[in-house]
Amino acid sequence: MTDIKKGLAGVTVDETAVSKVNPETNSLLYRGYPVQELAATQPFEAVAYLLWNGELPDAEQLAALRRTEREHRALPDDVRAAIDLLPTSAHPMDEVRTAVSVIGARETAGMSNVMDAVGTPEENLDRSVRLWAQLPAVVAYGQRRRRGEDLVEPRDDLDYAANFLWMTFGEEAAPVVVDAFTRSMILYAEHSFNASTFTARVIASTLSDLYSAVVGAIGALKGPLHGGANEAVLHVLREIGSAENVGPWLDTALAEKRKIMGFGHRVYKRGDSRVPTMKAALDTLVAHYDRPEVAALYDALEAQFVERKGIYPNLDYPSGPAYDLMGFDTLTFTPLFVAARVTGWTAHIREQQAANALIRPLSAYVGPDERHVEGYVADAADVEAQARPAEAAS
Ligand code: COA
Repeated sequence: MTDIKKGLAGVTVDETAVSKVNPETNSLLYRGYPVQELAATQPFEAVAYLLWNGELPDAEQLAALRRTEREHRALPDDVRAAIDLLPTSAHPMDEVRTAVSVIGARETAGMSNVMDAVGTPEENLDRSVRLWAQLPAVVAYGQRRRRGEDLVEPRDDLDYAANFLWMTFGEEAAPVVVDAFTRSMILYAEHSFNASTFTARVIASTLSDLYSAVVGAIGALKGPLHGGANEAVLHVLREIGSAENVGPWLDTALAEKRKIMGFGHRVYKRGDSRVPTMKAALDTLVAHYDRPEVAALYDALEAQFVERKGIYPNLDYPSGPAYDLMGFDTLTFTPLFVAARVTGWTAHIREQQAANALIRPLSAYVGPDERHVEGYVADAADVEAQARPAEAAS
């Protein structure tokens, strides 16, 4: 019998130099650096540079990346017009997916030979930087549009994270908020062959363009078993209400065999390496906004769920309430993940392109045995085709 690895669990499909997840030591390395060290010491721009180029930038390289990022921060008119065509009730992930499609169509316009759109490694690095620079405007505008607020133009004097918050809320964020937001972006930036990154690599492996690969990755990230979990965590926390309700709520949820969003991970089975850093950031926000009840509910659910099921929180568990405290709408959480993860996706797309093999697995057929349409009489070509030796299906 064919040995099927459902969900590709435990299957190593390729090599990567972008990041290493080690469930044994609970560690996550970006290009060799522990993610906790990067979150404690680096701006998000430097981590993006590291993911794309393999090394942390020197002062000049960082300044150059920051210049380019600032040049592409504004929301292009046609991208805004495309977003405005969508109903305000559209899910913001659909909005971001649409915006990336439009950005890609603009960037590859005139490339009638589909091979041209694949781009050189240098072109794809430039495309990656520009797309990353444009996404905060898309995400920020989406939240403002839903709230009936006007677009806020970017500010040249703020770094990536501070400008992102500025464009979303129209006011300068406190340093503690910028710091927590930066950490979340760094922690979300990359995580090896997760479902959305793998989707991006599958699309890149057909020699499709970078934008198509990112659009597909956004679709994969939307699902609540992946990126959509940070949004789902907030629904769970709201449903429970307060720390005292955790016990009875869990009794019912477990009796109903519900999956508790924000807990569990395909790779980490003894805790997600990114959680302590994000939980520390959440604690600073709880103190800043003076919302101890948020921490009490968080701690109670974690303690009781871990005790009863032995399943630990993943990054979405602390990031959900952190984004909520910062003032983001729950619906905006997964688009924030997109804005961060686009760095990892594009690093992987370029890696896939550099040593490509079409990703095309096999399947074990379990449908009906061969049968024939009633009344069909085989012609000569058919008879010849059936007589040919078996070939692998394309
Ligand atoms: N709540 C309740 N039970 C959970 C759970 C959760 N969050 N995560 C896993 N389990 C249980 C499953 O019900 C299953 O129990 P069973 O063996 O009695 O059927 C067992 O643990 C294994 O779970 P499974 O879903 O098969 O593991 P996986 O490796 O495929 O799943 C996730 C990983 C992430 C899909 C899963 O943990 C999950 O759905 N988590 C919630 C969504 C989430 O937070 N996603 C973000 C991931 S970063």
